[in-house]
Amino acid sequence: MRVRQLFDSGSSTYSYLVWDIDSREAALIDPVQEQAGRDAGLVRELGLTLKYTLETHVHGDHVTGSGYLREALNSIVIAHENSRTKCADVLVRDGDFIPLGHQRINILFTPGHTNNHVCLTIPGAIFTGDSLLIGSCGRTDHHSGDPGAQYDSITEKLFALPDDTLVYPGHDYHGKTCSTIGEEKTYNPQIGAHVSRQAFIEAVSSIKLDPPQRLLEALPANLRCGMPIHHAGHTTAIS
Ligand SMILES: [Fe+2]
Repeated sequence: MRVRQLFDSGSSTYSYLVWDIDSREAALIDPVQEQAGRDAGLVRELGLTLKYTLETHVHGDHVTGSGYLREALNSIVIAHENSRTKCADVLVRDGDFIPLGHQRINILFTPGHTNNHVCLTIPGAIFTGDSLLIGSCGRTDHHSGDPGAQYDSITEKLFALPDDTLVYPGHDYHGKTCSTIGEEKTYNPQIGAHVSRQAFIEAVSSIKLDPPQRLLEALPANLRCGMPIHHAGHTTAIS
C-alpha cells in the first residue's frame, strides 16, 4: 500500500490518497472541496483508479470534496452509518473493510469527536481523523461530541495498536505531519497514557473554544457530500 499525504492550508486539513500498488485501486480519505481539482489531477497523474472517498466523520470545519470527485471519477462515497448522510453510497460500521485490490482498509469506530467518527487502518498505519492528533486530540464540545467516548476510543482502541504504528492525523496546526502510537502514548500531554479518564474529561470540559468558523455552512453541506442544494446530478467539471 502506498500513502500520499495532502494538505489544505485553508482548514489545516490532511487528506490521504491510499492505493494498492498492484491493482492501482485507490481511496481518498477526507477530501476537501477546494482541493478536488488537485486531487483528481493527482489520481490521473499517478495512473490510479479512485474507487472510494472515505469520510472519517461529518466535518464541521471544511466541506468535503466527495461529491465532486464522485462526479469526476465515479468514486463511491463512504461514511459511518451514524452520519445519516443520505448522499453516501455506502454506510459502514465497526469491523467493516474496504477492498483495494488484494489489500483492505479496515473501519474502526471511534466516537468522541462526533458520534459518527471512524479511524481507518492499513498494515502499519492508522488514519485518525479528529480523534488522536499529534500532541492533542480532536475537540468534543460541539456537534455530537463526547469527551468520555473520545478518551475510551483513543486509549482502548488506538493505544492497543503496536507502538510503531504510524499515526496520520486529520489536522495539524503546527506543521507536524505524522507520529506513532508509541510517541502519542508517551508524549501526548492531553491524552497520553499518563492522563486519567477523569482528568481528561475535566480538562477538555474547561476549555472554551469558539465554534469552527464554517460550522453552519459545513455541516449541512457535508450531508449533501458538498454538492449544492438543488444539484440535479449533472456532471460538474473539475480539473
Ligand atoms: Fe472534525
